Order: sequence, then C-alpha cells, then structure tokens
Amino acid sequence: MEQELKEAAQQSPATGNSPQATDIKVFAPATVANVVCGFDVLGFAVNEPGDEVVMRVTNKPGITISKITGDDGRLPLDPAKNTVSVSVQHYLDSIDRKDLGLDIELHKKMPIGSGLGSSSASTVAGLFAVKTLLGDDTDVAKLLPFAMKGEEMACGHGHADNVAPALLGGFVLIRSYEPLDVIRLPHPPGLYCAIVFPDVDVPTREARQIIRNKILMKDAVTQWGNIAGLVSGLYTQDIDLIGRSMQDVLVEPVRSILIPDFYIMRELAMQAGAVSFGISGSGPSVFAFTRDEETARQITQTLQKHLAGIKINSNSYVSTINDAGPRVLG
Ligand code: HSE
Repeated sequence: MEQELKEAAQQSPATGNSPQATDIKVFAPATVANVVCGFDVLGFAVNEPGDEVVMRVTNKPGITISKITGDDGRLPLDPAKNTVSVSVQHYLDSIDRKDLGLDIELHKKMPIGSGLGSSSASTVAGLFAVKTLLGDDTDVAKLLPFAMKGEEMACGHGHADNVAPALLGGFVLIRSYEPLDVIRLPHPPGLYCAIVFPDVDVPTREARQIIRNKILMKDAVTQWGNIAGLVSGLYTQDIDLIGRSMQDVLVEPVRSILIPDFYIMRELAMQAGAVSFGISGSGPSVFAFTRDEETARQITQTLQKHLAGIKINSNSYVSTINDAGPRVLG
C-alpha cells in the first residue's frame, strides 16, 4: 500500500511542479454505527448532516489549523491534538511528504458527541481533501487506517464502523479488525432513515466504558443470529427480515439508560410505522428505518414533540443511505 501511495504522491500537483489546484473544499457524511445489533462491525452513511474541510497548500512545511466553526470552541486548534490534522499527518508521513505545508479550516455542521460519527466525518473530509489535492488516485479504502487513528484519538478506541462508511459510502461491514477486512454491503433501494438527536451529552469514550466486557453464550447466540439476519435481509432486500433482526441484547440494554425516554421513543417510532429503531453509534442520537420518506418525517416530528414535552431540545434528519461518501465541493 505504502509504495502505491508514494508513487501517487510523487506525481502530485502539490510538489510545486504543476499549476493544478492548491486548495480544496470537501464534505464528508455523518454515519450511523452499530446499526443496533452490529456493535463495532456495522455502519452506514447518510446524506445529511456532514462536516466540511477547506484545505490549502502553504509554503511552510507542517500542518496548521486556521479556523474551526460550529464547535462552540470545543475542538483544539493545536494540530497535534486535533483528529483531522493528526490523521492527515499520519497519511503524509506514510508517503514521505513531511515537506508539505497544509492549512486546514474545519466547519462542523453537526453536533459533537451526538452519536452520528462527528469526529469521523471531519477526519474523513480531511483525508479525502489531502488525497485529492495530491492527485493520489489509489483506492480510497487505503485511507481507512489513517482515519482509524483519528477515531482512536477522539475516543480511545480505533473502531471503524463510523470512518469506514464515511469514507466508502453506503452500508459497510467490518468483518475483521486484525487483519482489517471491510466489506461493502448492498441495501434495499428506498430505505429511509429518520434520525433524532436529543441534545444531551453522551461522550463515546464514556459510553464504551459502561459496556459489559463479558457476555453470556445465550446472548451471543441471539446477537450473531440477528447480525446474520440483518446482513441476509440487506442482500435479499427483505425489509421485514431487516426489521426483526435489528435487536441488540448486548449493548442497548446498558446504553439506553443514557438516552432520555429511549424505550418510550422506540414505542412511538414503531407505532408510527418504523421498520426498526435503535441507538445511533454510542448515542444519544436514535434512528429508525422506514419504507418511505413520509413515515420517516412523521417519526422525527413525533419524537421531537415528545422530547420537547420533557424539556429536551433536539434536531432531526431524514435521509436515504448515502452511497457516495465524501465529495469535493469546490
Ligand atoms: N461502535 C462505536 C460504539 C461507535 O458504539 O462505541 C461510536 O460512535
């Protein structure tokens, strides 16, 4: 992999030998990780929200971060502490381009700590920006280990179920971490996702610490039956099978206590016609799959009304599954 990356970088417009682009703006999407039963192994990308990175080549070697917006001052401008610059630096090191100067602007377009893969969207936008600026046309999947470094920094664990779908688009299975084996899954056309973010803070690091590290064999059997059922349903476009497979007996029972009225919201969503309902990533966002856009909008309205009734602010998004992943905006 490294050799391919180095060769691509040597033909790079940012070496100073070419009049090609020296700045770029990139969008990368939010993601729903776990997809209820697939803790750390399943995730999909949505159309909105997502983060934007503006990257410019500079004359001085090294990475600077000149601006971050939309974060309420919560993210570090120090390039040694920011997940975007750290991931980009790992990529540059791997291709022997420590000579390169880059300035990064990060525009957060989604809440931090929301369970929507906020840090992953930023990191993937940064990596896709530098890859494109350098004219590196190797497979985008080769950026995954660098994106996982960012995730490790953000929450103490380098899981890939947010960064992989943000980078590759679509629905993704991480079949194995060692060695890394990532598989893009099909999905039924017309499957909608309703997302509601209750505005309470659930840091992923803490949401991981409360999970039990020993499980009963009978729960494991239930869980892997459900994962296999979900994957089968995706391949056969069987939405009923997808729905009945999205049950989590391992993580949701513990994490649901961090989410206000989780089980009431589930009841409301299912009554309103959801195919399935669960926690997005480590929460507090929740999501439902539906067969159409109108039902998805109905569910977000119902859940937001319920949250308002218990004095919790919320945002919502309705989206199909985003098969494109990151894209250049300009
Ligand atoms: N699989 C990760 C977790 C996703 O549930 O902790 C974090 O968004």
